[in-house]
Amino acid sequence: MDLLARRARVDVWPGDLPPPSEELQRAARTSDGMVTLLTDLIDQPLLAAAPNLRVVANVATGYDNIDVEAATRHGVAVTNTPGVLDDTTADFAFALLMAAARRVVEADAFVRRGEWQTWSPTLLLGSDIHGATLGIVGPGRIGMAMARRAVGFNMRLLYHARTRRPNAEAELGLSYRALPELLAESDFVSLHVPLTSETRGLIGDDKFDLMKPSAILVNTARGPIVNEDALCSALRDGRLAGAALDVFEEEPLAPGHPLTQFANVVLAPHLGSASTATRSKMADMAIDNCLAVLEGRRPPNCLNPEVLALEAGGR
Ligand code: DGY
Repeated sequence: MDLLARRARVDVWPGDLPPPSEELQRAARTSDGMVTLLTDLIDQPLLAAAPNLRVVANVATGYDNIDVEAATRHGVAVTNTPGVLDDTTADFAFALLMAAARRVVEADAFVRRGEWQTWSPTLLLGSDIHGATLGIVGPGRIGMAMARRAVGFNMRLLYHARTRRPNAEAELGLSYRALPELLAESDFVSLHVPLTSETRGLIGDDKFDLMKPSAILVNTARGPIVNEDALCSALRDGRLAGAALDVFEEEPLAPGHPLTQFANVVLAPHLGSASTATRSKMADMAIDNCLAVLEGRRPPNCLNPEVLALEAGGR
């Protein structure tokens, strides 16, 4: 905030909850740049009503809250914060995987409820992580950081991507599988693809049918990649052993949502990148990106660089 305030007139939304869309539109109408969160929907109507807007700097790597094509048509640069959160997000994805496999949340609640009466050879048994097979869907930067953690646990690593990644195979010994084969062979499946029209609903009923009934699904990417109705059916029918979810079709997850009823599901409120250091770096990057466009410099992380040429030539 200090950095921005020194170089621009800043209008800050004061609420803890995201601004209502009319408020966001009002701000867009009068702003040259916006620093946005993933809860702010930047769509065609907003962009059409924002004649002076030159940059939308998202404080996130994902940018499915922004219609980048519409922004490009309106000559608005869109930036994100790639790279700085990969390890932090992979740490959290691995923490969720371990929590679900070893029933950490259930165990904590059990002790707090005062139900622990004795050591028992069958109390809260979970699944081994070491030696198990981890299927990574989307071996991008975060997916690869997840794979690096799994190497330390001596896991067998599979990956699926639209095209094979010889570098990933060479660096960490990942083996490529088509998605159905990856799902059928994995003990843990971790999702690391962006949300696009191709990945929306990627993990639906047909996919759960392919997975091992002992498998655990981890999602730290975006909620709508998984069809939650299908996930709940698979958990209810015992076609899946558990899930660990940081992201949801609708966020925040509604109180009493069916997913909250399963003891074998670990839930988190979209915390993948939530370490103090990483969130600071993300904020710094977004502000650098925003100021760069406003001051006529090239922003380091532009998703539609074609608009920068327009900027250079004057709009
Ligand atoms: C992102 O950056 O896309 C995360 O979901 C929030 O850190």
